[in-house]
Amino acid sequence: MIVISSVNQKGGTGKTTTIYHLSYLLARKYRVLTIDLDPQATLTIAYGVDPDQLDQGVDTVLESYATRKKSRIKLTDIAVDIEWDDVKFELVPSRDYLEGLNVTLTNVLGRERILSKAISDIDGFNVVLIDCQPTFSLLTINAMVASDYLIIPVETAYFSLHGLLLLLDTVEMIKEELNPDLKILGIIPFKYDKRLTASRKNLERIKKFEDRVKVYPPIPLSTYFEKSIEEKKPLYAFTSKTAKEGLKVFEEIVKDVERIIGR
Ligand SMILES: Nc1ncnc2c1ncn2[C@@H]1O[C@H](COP(=O)(O)OP(=O)(O)OP(=O)(O)O)[C@@H](O)[C@H]1O
Ligand SMILES: [Mg+2]
Repeated sequence: MIVISSVNQKGGTGKTTTIYHLSYLLARKYRVLTIDLDPQATLTIAYGVDPDQLDQGVDTVLESYATRKKSRIKLTDIAVDIEWDDVKFELVPSRDYLEGLNVTLTNVLGRERILSKAISDIDGFNVVLIDCQPTFSLLTINAMVASDYLIIPVETAYFSLHGLLLLLDTVEMIKEELNPDLKILGIIPFKYDKRLTASRKNLERIKKFEDRVKVYPPIPLSTYFEKSIEEKKPLYAFTSKTAKEGLKVFEEIVKDVERIIGR
């Protein structure tokens, strides 16, 4: 089983969009469990689950592990089935209660490894995907500690680069202190507009990180990513050139994951 988190402390970079499409594409070949670890619950909503109607969320699971209850609630106990075009996978949904855990977990012994423990108690999956919130919160640290690989979506915008440096430093810190085996699958430049000089320049700047980490081809700026969520349709349902280009990038990531799983 391989665990992959989509991380960036900056908001709106494409973290949720990445997990949204990868869950579907990977579920065509593998047993996938997707965890929404963002209290904003955008991934949960994107898959058509209403967080306000949920009796239990990923918060329930983490709390049961944190309080060392005898009857722990497993991730699979609360996961909901998602079916998209005959492709099935399971989603551990989020709701706004989750934000409170960033506070309640603070005084818990082993607070950085709670999600990792919850994941080690499940089996039968080939891939676990985690969507993170846009901060270096205790929840995000839990995701990084539980992960084998990180995917880093970055906007092709000037300010993104400073954030990227900070993020790579944080990953080094997590490796030193908490998870020495953590690796970065790659950076995905998002919302690339080749007509704009600034976008092209910023892509070049992101590519300079290639000596440290893989940089995937850019995902173009396109309304089809929002449309795909609104209409609950996978990217290949759209004939637009930009949707196809985006799909190609996600398919390259799927191939990399296949290679890792096949090892
Ligand atoms: N390639 C793209 N072109 C244009 N818009 C996009 C593209 N990819 C994603 N978006 C839109 O940008 C917004 C932010 O994307 P997304 O929610 O994936 O980012 P995020 O990093 O998860 O945000 P947050 O930090 O709030 O969790 C969404 O409205 C999404 O539909
Ligand atoms: Mg998000």
